Amino acid sequence: MKKHNYSAGPCILPQEVFEKSAQAILNFNNSGLSILEISHRSKDFVAVMEEARALAIELLGLEGKGYQALFLAGGASLEFIMAPYNLMKEGGKAAYLDSGTWASAAIKEAKLFGDTVVVASSKEENYNHIPKGYEIPSDADYFHCTSNNTIFGTQMKEFPTTDIPVVCDMSSDIFSRVLDFSKFDIIYAGAQKNMGPAGTTLVVIKEEILGKNGRIIPSMLDYTKHIKAESMYNTPPVFPVYASLLTLQWLKNLGGVAAIEKINNAKAALLYGEIDRNPLFKGAAAVEDRSNMNATFLLNDSAHAETFDAMWKAAGISGLPGHRSVGGYRASMYNALPLESVQVLVDVMKELEAKV
Ligand SMILES: Cc1ncc(COP(=O)(O)O)c(C=O)c1O
Repeated sequence: MKKHNYSAGPCILPQEVFEKSAQAILNFNNSGLSILEISHRSKDFVAVMEEARALAIELLGLEGKGYQALFLAGGASLEFIMAPYNLMKEGGKAAYLDSGTWASAAIKEAKLFGDTVVVASSKEENYNHIPKGYEIPSDADYFHCTSNNTIFGTQMKEFPTTDIPVVCDMSSDIFSRVLDFSKFDIIYAGAQKNMGPAGTTLVVIKEEILGKNGRIIPSMLDYTKHIKAESMYNTPPVFPVYASLLTLQWLKNLGGVAAIEKINNAKAALLYGEIDRNPLFKGAAAVEDRSNMNATFLLNDSAHAETFDAMWKAAGISGLPGHRSVGGYRASMYNALPLESVQVLVDVMKELEAKV
């Protein structure tokens, strides 16, 4: 039986992506070859890379606005290094918002490159909210934030206005909601949540901000070199890029980001509605900052955990336990998770209420 997969990532992808990917492994484009055995320089794969890059830009509404999309390896974690390497001047400074474990990991790396100012942090409250009311120093080389905090279940609803370049880690909510993406100068996202399998990272860059920090950048870490090589500076992660393309095509056919946002809002409303209604549960994150992607919640009485865990497992749900730093439960409702799966979880929560 197919599970209701609430995994935080790698995670559920559309069924048609699994099917088409499987077919491409056996016989890619009717070529008699597997996608796993063709050259990344072959005509067929170059077309995949080109379409994936163009579709990412199109779905973000960034066509004709001076942006380039790259599909790199190394995960979002490598972008924690690439962003400062490409933007921070020698002796320069960067401003970071510390809203969670991943934001904090990005800060740690930036500190290797120069003065890294943390404009605000919610660490003291175990990152249960998004810090607000901070000032961004206008002399910083860039501002970095994390749009969705996967572990804590918080999501930035507003982004600060600033004249310096804005870099955003959108790993866990890319393509999930409509934003004015042109407000960002670099957007990066590990594929393994809303875009594809693990193994590639989407980086969307406003080209004009590059080449200004005067550093000598090792080739593999240099965005300019990757752009010049059309995201093929070295052998790209061929299969993850192909599966990401299939996911982006699925999203486009569905009506794009605006269409999926409506579905995501409906899923979040259904689950948070039950968390707030059901006296057995409580949400872990500040209500105004609740993430539509990762809903974190707890049982008021942990004595019910054993019963609840047995019930959701029996209902075919997987991946629900919370991250160890929050405890309780985390329901990751990425783009490919259907509303019906959320209904199954809500029904189990109601059944638990009736039972205890
Ligand atoms: C918001 C966020 N940033 C960064 C990462 C790290 O991504 P990767 O494992 O691709 O380096 C994660 C992983 O879950 C994440 O959720």
